Amino acid sequence: MANNSQKGSRRLARPDSSHVGDSQSRLEEELELWCSPRMRELRRTIEVISRVDVTVLVSGETGTGKDLVAQSIHYLSPRCTRPFIKVSCVALPRDLLESELFGHEPGAFVGAHELQIGKLELANSGTIFLDEIGGLHPDLQGKLLHVLQDGQFSRVGGRSTLKVDVRILAATNQDLERSVAAGTFREDLFYRLNVIHVDVPPLRDRPEEIPALAQYFVRRNCEIFQRPAFVLSPETLQRLAQHRYAGNVRELENIIKRMVVLDDQRVAGNAFSGPAQARPPALQGATSPAPISLKEVGRRAAQDAERAAILQMLDRTRWNRLRAAKLLNISYRALLYKMKDAGIGLDQPARLVSNEPLNAHGETDPQASFE
Ligand SMILES: Nc1ncnc2c1ncn2[C@@H]1O[C@H](COP(=O)(O)OP(=O)(O)OP(=O)(O)O)[C@@H](O)[C@H]1O
Ligand SMILES: [Mg+2]
Repeated sequence: MANNSQKGSRRLARPDSSHVGDSQSRLEEELELWCSPRMRELRRTIEVISRVDVTVLVSGETGTGKDLVAQSIHYLSPRCTRPFIKVSCVALPRDLLESELFGHEPGAFVGAHELQIGKLELANSGTIFLDEIGGLHPDLQGKLLHVLQDGQFSRVGGRSTLKVDVRILAATNQDLERSVAAGTFREDLFYRLNVIHVDVPPLRDRPEEIPALAQYFVRRNCEIFQRPAFVLSPETLQRLAQHRYAGNVRELENIIKRMVVLDDQRVAGNAFSGPAQARPPALQGATSPAPISLKEVGRRAAQDAERAAILQMLDRTRWNRLRAAKLLNISYRALLYKMKDAGIGLDQPARLVSNEPLNAHGETDPQASFE
């Protein structure tokens, strides 16, 4: 297995190929882009753990590919023909999330007129992917622990105990051990989730993947936006390869998307030379002829972090700025101001950046990819 996996062109071994559709072949194509030694190793790990019904905790910085890891574990598992359901643990307030996950009985609370089947039940015999698990409300942490222990839970307002057969995958970009130490995450839940831990490295630790990723995103976005295909110039590729991506693969994807939409390879240059460069501030100071104050270093670092967070949220909400502002907990006006300040175009029409169906939270719904 180890030798075969080294070959970039090798297709992953699926338990059943009869249901392969567009999204699955896209997933396969994307996994081929994990060509660095660390990601090849990760692919081998995924192949092994996907066959065994164990809980997996996926960690990594934002935009590194944790969703992709979860999808591929499901897709390579014997459950691949069954549902794959993603739930964000931070997208909804506690009560709504409880209903979303566990369902509710009619009359469970004011306004609960009908029975709602929760995502856990919907995922029965398949996989549930609990994203941003570190943000799960403490009350729900206890309830989830029961599911992990014996597969049992009750709907909100329900008396009977239900049993489900689901594989649980969870992802976090927080240091959960630190959250345990800080008392914000249950230690027993952490150990139940952390049976297998997969850490996805940041893009800066696998720069050799950048050219292939960039070319893939060009191809894909040209298709989506029906633009003529183009070849990235050596200068552009060099700029892309040298950039330090605070937002990881998602940031690279967004840069290419802008490049395709605006039909302008200079976007790569502009993206890195605006007021909020992603190069480390200390490095910027080192190459600048003028001395740089510590205060300025801090200001630039904060700008970098803000820019990455805004881009990530815009991507998640498919450039729905109202919703992005809400999730970022700032006013719409403040978001527009910050976007301008960070050199992020204000005139990006939402339809240009959307090609996939949205779920109820305004996010891409990976469930759609597996149905
Ligand atoms: N190997 C890859 N090939 C193609 N696209 C990729 C690859 N890795 C990541 N991406 C793309 O980068 C973006 C971010 O990936 P993903 O959503 O899996 O990251 P994440 O770690 O879950 O991020 P977050 O912490 O913000 O949830 C997605 O649009 C995804 O399709
Ligand atoms: Mg994710």
